[in-house]
Amino acid sequence: MPAIRPGTKGGVISGWGIALPEKVLTNHELAEMMDTSDEWIVARTGIHERRIGGSTIGLSVESGRQALEMAGLDPSRIDGLVLATTTPDKQWGNAAAVQNELGMRCGAFDVNAACSGFVYALVCGHGLIAMGADRVLVIGTDTLSRITDWDDRGTAPLFADGSGAVVIESVDGPGQLLGWDLDADGSLLSILQAEVGGYIRMEGKEVFRRAVRIMVDSAEKSMAHAGISADDVALIVPHQANVRIIDAACQRLGIPMERAAVVLDKTGNTSSASIPLALADALDNGRVANGDLVLFVGFGGGMTAASCVVRWGGGVDD
Ligand code: COA
Repeated sequence: MPAIRPGTKGGVISGWGIALPEKVLTNHELAEMMDTSDEWIVARTGIHERRIGGSTIGLSVESGRQALEMAGLDPSRIDGLVLATTTPDKQWGNAAAVQNELGMRCGAFDVNAACSGFVYALVCGHGLIAMGADRVLVIGTDTLSRITDWDDRGTAPLFADGSGAVVIESVDGPGQLLGWDLDADGSLLSILQAEVGGYIRMEGKEVFRRAVRIMVDSAEKSMAHAGISADDVALIVPHQANVRIIDAACQRLGIPMERAAVVLDKTGNTSSASIPLALADALDNGRVANGDLVLFVGFGGGMTAASCVVRWGGGVDD
């Protein structure tokens, strides 16, 4: 992927929001439903509980509304809505439905890049800003419980539901995005897939092995484009699939785990929502200051990978 051309109009994230279904499903409850245990799930994944329920459109409206409120923007001022989801409620028009419920009138489209979807959408959002949009709402939402086979202990403990959103506003100057990388390798489609109307099917060990490799590869490309090294990264916001994958990727990148945003213990793998959920948690806990370099990195079915480096606040100091 090319580096960002000098002079490209940039943006900054000015608001964020999340939505999680009310129903908590713990590992202990799962162990009553299938042949598994809390100990096994925690040791192999780091997940303790997850949230189940809601619709993709409903959760998106909730997180999107929060992000708009935090940005202090009337919905009518948004120029574009990008909704990342791999579990749409409808064959088409999911983003348009969210747009309508939020009272917006702008271009609205869905992006499906599986668990890399939010970073794909974030890069698309910056692309719209570069082409003249002033305010873009980017939402990542998935309701994976609807395509999870609850008789398959190899996948059921992993996947869950949620949503996260950010508002990007254009600024004078280059803005926050310093480097990005979008990747896909369709030859690996079979190791993690779901047919339309079917359940998630996965070769867990192979996905694990490939995931670490493609995360590291993509993150290194984004850091190279941004002209930074792992030592410069204040916070890495990785896809929340398995804490062991995050740990292995961080080790290879040379980023200490203390600098990783991790929420999967409470959320499980929420696909397109996982990165904005982890970002919002880090922001709400004061882990990011203006000027900090934040590395986003996702991977997922396809297999897809996506990463980007953001200077929080777009270079404006506190
Ligand atoms: N509870 C208890 N035992 C289970 C189990 C469960 N939920 N699921 C599998 N096992 C058993 C297996 O049957 C196997 O038993 P055996 O040794 O008697 O054959 C044993 O645990 C080990 O299984 P294995 O699949 O080798 O475990 P693992 O360490 O690879 O962990 C995953 C399995 C799925 C947690 C792990 O491979 C993984 O996270 N892969 C990546 C998945 C992912 O991130 N997908 C989304 C990408 S976006």
